[in-house]
Amino acid sequence: FEVSWDAAAADKGGWSSFMAKEVSEEPEAVANTVLGRVQDGQIVIPELDGLDGLFQGVSRVIVLACGTAYYAGLVGKYAIEQWARIPVDVELAHEFRYRDPIVGPETLVVSISQSGETMDTLMAVKEAARLGAKTLSICNTQGATIPRESDAIVYTHAGPEVAVASTKAFVAQITALYLLALHVGRVRGALSAEVAGAAIAELEALPEKIRWILENEQERIEQLSRWMSDTRSVLFLGRHVGYPIALEGALKLKELSYIHAEGFAAGELKHGPIALIEPGQPVFVMVPSPRQGATLHAKVISNIEEIRARGARVIAVAEEGDAAVLPFADEVLRVPLAAPLFEPILAVVPLHIFAMGLATAKGLDVDQPRNLAKSVTVE
Ligand code: AGP
Repeated sequence: FEVSWDAAAADKGGWSSFMAKEVSEEPEAVANTVLGRVQDGQIVIPELDGLDGLFQGVSRVIVLACGTAYYAGLVGKYAIEQWARIPVDVELAHEFRYRDPIVGPETLVVSISQSGETMDTLMAVKEAARLGAKTLSICNTQGATIPRESDAIVYTHAGPEVAVASTKAFVAQITALYLLALHVGRVRGALSAEVAGAAIAELEALPEKIRWILENEQERIEQLSRWMSDTRSVLFLGRHVGYPIALEGALKLKELSYIHAEGFAAGELKHGPIALIEPGQPVFVMVPSPRQGATLHAKVISNIEEIRARGARVIAVAEEGDAAVLPFADEVLRVPLAAPLFEPILAVVPLHIFAMGLATAKGLDVDQPRNLAKSVTVE
C-alpha cells in the first residue's frame, strides 16, 4: 500500500502551520543561540575570536535592519548602551542609505537580518562599509549574502524560519544582541563580572519562562483572539524596552490579519494618539515590572487609567503577580518575572500568539500572508 501524507504537514511536524511550529520553538531559539557561548561564567562568541580590535576603536554603533529585525535592534540598543557603554542609533536600513550618513572607522554597523538577503539591509551595509565603518552581521542563515559582506558575524540559531511572519528569529535576534553587548562590554572593560553573571543567569532562564507562557497562557490568548476576531483596529502601548515590543505586536497583527494596528510609546498618548480612544477600542499595554522602578510602572498604570476612562478595552501584558494592574485591565496576559531588560523577550510571546490566533480565526493563511515575501530581495 502507498503511504500518503501531506509532505508539507510532515515538514510542519504535525503543527497546523509553520508559524505555530515556530512559535512553539521560541524557547529553543533562545536556548540554542546562547548554547556554546557561555563558558565559566563568561560570554564567549567563537565567531568573534581575534576580532577584539573591531570593538576597541569604536565610539558609536549604528544598527541597521528592517521590519521585525529593526524592532529587535530597538530592544538591543538598551542592552548595548547599558553593558558596553557605547551610544547606539537604530535605523531603518532603507532610510539610512539615502540620508548621507556621518559614518567612519569609529562606527560599528550591526546589521540584523533573519534571511541575510534583504536588499535594503544589504545595500545599507555596503554603503556603510564604503564610508569606512566596520560591519557585523547578526543573521539566522549560514552563508547568506549579508554575513558574507560583513567583517564579522554572530549567527542566531533559531533554526530555519519558514513562516513569513518572523517569530522565533525575533527572540533569537534579541538574544544575540544581548550576547554581543555583554561580549563588547567585557572586551572594553565596561562590564563588571557581577553584572555579566546576573545577565547570563537571566539569559539561561529565558527558555523555561517562554515555555511557561506557552503552557499556561497560550490557550487563553487564542480564546481572546477568537472573541476579538471582528475587531477593526488594535493599538499597542509600551514604554522603555516595552515600546519596541508594542511596535512588533502591531506589525504581527497587521501582516497576519490585515487589520489596522499601531504601536505607540505610551508617553506619546497625550501628545495625540489618545484622540483615537473611543468606547470598545482594544489596546494592548506592555506593563513593565514594578521591580523595574515604581515610576515607570506607575506611569504605565496611569496611561491605562487614562484610556480606560475613555472606554478603551485594555489587554495588559504584565508580570505574574502584578496586582496593581488588575483593577484597570479587562484582560491580563501574564509573563513570568524577569529582570527588566529581559522582559521584552517574554512580553512578545503573547503578542505572537494573539496575532496568529486572530488570523486563524479569520481563516487566513498565517504562513503566507497576502502581498508579503519571506525575504524582500528587491529594493
Ligand atoms: C517580519 O514578520 C516581516 N515579515 C518582515 O518585517 C521582516 O522582519 C523584514 O523583511 C526583515 O527581514 P530579514 O530579517 O530577513 O532581513
